[in-house]
Amino acid sequence: MRFLNDFPAVFMSTTAVVEVIIQPNKEAASALVARMVANDLKANPHLVLGLATGATMELVYRRLARMHKEDKLDFSLCTTFNLDEYVGVAPSDPHSYRHYMERHLFQHVNVDPRNTHLPNGTAADLDAECRNYEALIQRFGGIDLQLLGIGKAGHIGFNEPLSALRSRTRVKALTPTTIKQNSPLFGSEDKVPRRAITMGVGTILDCRRCVLLATGETKAEILAKSVEGPITSMISATALQLHPRCTVVVDEPAASLLTEKDYYRWIFQNEPEWEGYR
Ligand code: F6R
Repeated sequence: MRFLNDFPAVFMSTTAVVEVIIQPNKEAASALVARMVANDLKANPHLVLGLATGATMELVYRRLARMHKEDKLDFSLCTTFNLDEYVGVAPSDPHSYRHYMERHLFQHVNVDPRNTHLPNGTAADLDAECRNYEALIQRFGGIDLQLLGIGKAGHIGFNEPLSALRSRTRVKALTPTTIKQNSPLFGSEDKVPRRAITMGVGTILDCRRCVLLATGETKAEILAKSVEGPITSMISATALQLHPRCTVVVDEPAASLLTEKDYYRWIFQNEPEWEGYR
């Protein structure tokens, strides 16, 4: 268990910025995110790492698994918390996010299984499960680095349109857009669970650092609205504009509708923080 004043100054950065880093393709974007995770993990082996699932994250996890194998990147002391899990899907079910995490990351690195946390979508009392998940995050001193993908309707986690900006972990009904987006994994739309437990927008905003990865043309429109549009609970990702330390990493296709690309490139080239990543 840790307390806020246990954190070294480097983890208490007060820089209030949302930065956008544009990479030529999804491989480069994913590699950069994996390096950010690796560097934070090396700086703080007790890192509390927030994880996301989905197609976008697969390359990041593949990179991290390779860094563990080839460079001995050490996960043994870190703790993980996933954003979400489907309601009614058991951890052993191949469609569960627990199963996804085992397959794409946990099996391939030396993380202690007891330190990996996902909400239990089959809990008898779902509200109690949500409250306990929030309490557990608090017990570990909060999340140091949260990885995020973005849904086609702008969700982060499963914070669907009209999620309150201060919402906490709770059960959320999935929108038709999300059900359609996630249906390939289930074979058809009618097999996709209708509800999920998700960290709230407020829970995500409390993480000390957020890194959102978006790749591919299909994310271009929602990404531009999220980064450059007005903050609205209709698009949960816009809430990240309120976050003190959020980095948005995108490939060229996902960046295609951003209007301030030159400015973002200039920042990336000139900010000393990014020297090691250029
Ligand atoms: C998954 C999650 C979602 C996904 C988002 C993008 O844990 O929290 O917000 O990150 O739906 O999914 P992909 O990467 O499949 O497009």
